[in-house]
Amino acid sequence: MSLLKTLSLAMTRIGRPVIGSAHSVRCMSDASFVHREADLDTKTFEFTEENKKRAEALLGIYPEGFKQAGVIPLLDLAQRQYGWLPLKAMNYVADYLQMPRMRVYEVATFYTMFNRAPVGKYHVQVCTTTPCMLRGAQELYEYTRDLLKDDKDFKVIEVECLGACVNAPMIQINDDYYEDLTNEDVKQIVADLKAGKKPKAGPSAKSGRLACEPKGGLTSLTTPPPGPGFGCRPDL
Ligand code: FES
Repeated sequence: MSLLKTLSLAMTRIGRPVIGSAHSVRCMSDASFVHREADLDTKTFEFTEENKKRAEALLGIYPEGFKQAGVIPLLDLAQRQYGWLPLKAMNYVADYLQMPRMRVYEVATFYTMFNRAPVGKYHVQVCTTTPCMLRGAQELYEYTRDLLKDDKDFKVIEVECLGACVNAPMIQINDDYYEDLTNEDVKQIVADLKAGKKPKAGPSAKSGRLACEPKGGLTSLTTPPPGPGFGCRPDL
């Protein structure tokens, strides 16, 4: 292939947006790298009266002259109100904080917690990073994806480590972590959500764990901690 043709092909590829597929990291929440309004999304965005009060309270913790540092909590507030972060919500936050819109886009595109496309009523994030992968996360992801593929209330994506590796494999659904999971656990959690119930977050009941303690019992810190003065000279 001529150099010219190779360059032309490469440029075409660079310029073409990649459409996410359920099999790869391109289905992650940071996959949308252009800010595009959905065709049907014609409503304007503004904080509700309640959220305006929240926004003011949030900004109150930042010193004068540094209010723009509140961009992340305000974007989070906008996302919770709207369900995801359309361009108009990012612009609203930028205007609210009197900062350049591009700086808000930079924040929203950097943090994968910000969803720049609709995520449905339940945003199901399956961790597939190494510790979870070693505990069967890939199978769990495929099972969850297939289980929910026709349900528009659920959006299933793969994510990087969510910081609950001790309880691998795990899934985050909206704000809750579900841990030590098997396919059966996922099936039950989904059934509960569909029935309007709120499944108990944390480790699966079958795991026998309350939190992230070792499965086989304690191996360290097995005695009560020594009190103040331990190891000091008696005359001190
Ligand atoms: Fe899955 Fe850390 S690797 S939570």
